Amino acid sequence: MLRVIFLSGLLVVTRGAIQPSVTIPDTAAGYAQQVVDVFQTAYGAYLQYAKGHDDLAPVSKSFVDGRNGWQATVWDALDTMQLMGLDTLYDQALGLITNVNFTRSLTSDAAYRNHSVFESNIRYLGGALSTFELTGKTNTHLIDQVTVLTDRMAYAFDAGPVPFNEVDFSTDPPTAQFGTSNIAQVGTLTLEFSRLSVYTGNDTYRQLAENAVKAVMGQPTPLPGFPAQGIDPPTGTPDGDYVSWGGGSDSYLEYLLKYARITNNADPTFLNAWKQAVDTSIQYLLTQSSVGNWTYLTDFTGGAPFYISSHLACFHGGNWLLGGKLLNNDTIFNIGLKLVDACTNTYHSTPTGFGPEFFTFINVNGASSLTPSSDDLAFYDEHGFWIFPGETDYFLRPEVLESNFYAWRMTGDVKYFNNAVAALDSVTTYLKANAGYAGLNDVTNPSAGMIDDMESFFSAETLKYLYLTFSPFDKISLDEYVFNTEAHPYEAPVWTH
Ligand SMILES: *[C@@H]1O[C@H](CO)[C@@H](O)[C@H](O)[C@H]1NC(C)=O
Ligand SMILES: *[C@@H]1O[C@H](CO)[C@@H](O)[C@H](O)[C@H]1NC(C)=O
Ligand SMILES: *[C@@H]1O[C@H](CO)[C@@H](O)[C@H](O)[C@H]1NC(C)=O
Ligand SMILES: *[C@@H]1O[C@H](CO)[C@@H](O)[C@H](O)[C@H]1NC(C)=O
Ligand SMILES: *[C@@H]1O[C@H](CO)[C@@H](O)[C@H](O)[C@H]1NC(C)=O
Repeated sequence: MLRVIFLSGLLVVTRGAIQPSVTIPDTAAGYAQQVVDVFQTAYGAYLQYAKGHDDLAPVSKSFVDGRNGWQATVWDALDTMQLMGLDTLYDQALGLITNVNFTRSLTSDAAYRNHSVFESNIRYLGGALSTFELTGKTNTHLIDQVTVLTDRMAYAFDAGPVPFNEVDFSTDPPTAQFGTSNIAQVGTLTLEFSRLSVYTGNDTYRQLAENAVKAVMGQPTPLPGFPAQGIDPPTGTPDGDYVSWGGGSDSYLEYLLKYARITNNADPTFLNAWKQAVDTSIQYLLTQSSVGNWTYLTDFTGGAPFYISSHLACFHGGNWLLGGKLLNNDTIFNIGLKLVDACTNTYHSTPTGFGPEFFTFINVNGASSLTPSSDDLAFYDEHGFWIFPGETDYFLRPEVLESNFYAWRMTGDVKYFNNAVAALDSVTTYLKANAGYAGLNDVTNPSAGMIDDMESFFSAETLKYLYLTFSPFDKISLDEYVFNTEAHPYEAPVWTH
């Protein structure tokens, strides 16, 4: 296919490319350096107050061990350091984790004895794989370490093709913990497990991950081709009828597309399933707000839309942009741009410059799921959404800036660059904590206090997407890499479909 793109007077002709080639603003390098400074402050505070643990507690200057105590922040930040060229910090980081033994959870806290297959996969395995690739595929020690982890995670599949998410690592062998799961936990293993199969020569991982997704696809769905969020391992039968692009379903949908991307569509099942979920979303979930005409995807349950969206769901803009490009489908691509704009609007509508965890709205036909208070209505009349009751937090999440990064890389429209500049300013103005950086209790009120956990995804994702938005287009080009759901880039073949 041949595409002609006009960009601020610069004609760029590309053949089947995902990214056009764009000359970035002169100011970019300065902003990129500011992001590096933020990262060094954040990570430096982690080393000072939380070394040996998972996350920095940025308010109390202490630590949090929410990811089994294997130093999640270090594993998750390795490739960020690589991309930023922080070689000394990187070498030190390798030293910190070289003896991490994933056989046992290191937290004594009973609440964390359970191990989340999903979280370990995207952060520990996910980070190790991309670091291995970015550093010339020589550090096999990293692969050996996470192979121990994955072999233990594999016990989650003991009872059937659909894994449990919780595994107790204190026993030998580890024991899967019975309980319902969701399609995000079940379907967000394909990228990592297939990479690990390549680098270990053990194809079992790929098969386990692919079979889990295919088991989800084989079940009845509440809407055509769009599975319910809840799922019961090991039978794989749906639990409830909740349909959403938000947390609990999000990365199942994300990985249908990205697994097709990384395999160059070797097995069309995955791309077809993504396309079907998108068709259904256009038919049943896509709507506009009565104020501002913002484009949203609702949730759906009990045969009707539920008018809600969320920070986590805001990955969808970038995902539809990528899918629109891969399918050469302008309808999907253009909806992707509108989704990006609507999510960005949640940032532009608050005094802190960050959007809330959940929000709601009235659609063009006057339908809504919540009755707004008079304050909500006043906010809605100005901004085209209002904050879902009790959901005012910003947890340092990446999704809005992630989708903004895709929009920038695929259009070269400087408004997306400027969105990132505004967000960087908000990071330095509102997120600076006693140590490092912290999320906000209330995006509409900077004095309402901060959240005492600098999650590892702040360095892995939020700062990485910001940094790459200010980097030359050939740095982790979308024509050469695909990001896992924790923003760890993996090498991807040329897309030829
Ligand atoms: C990791 O720990 C397990 C059990 O605690 C032990 O059997 C194994 O030898 C350890 N591995 C390494 C590389 O130290
Ligand atoms: C571990 O996970 C299982 C299944 O989700 C749950 O029933 C159990 O309460 C969890 N244990 C702890 C200590 O959190
Ligand atoms: C391949 O991985 C599976 C799943 O973890 C494991 O049970 C099996 O022992 C591995 N095979 C080899 C040869 O290491
Ligand atoms: C693009 O995608 C939309 C929505 O899925 C679909 O209705 C349309 O047929 C597609 N267009 C092409 C040219 O494939
Ligand atoms: C509202 O947005 C929809 C979808 O993007 C578009 O088709 C429509 O023309 C817009 N309406 C107005 C009044 O701008």
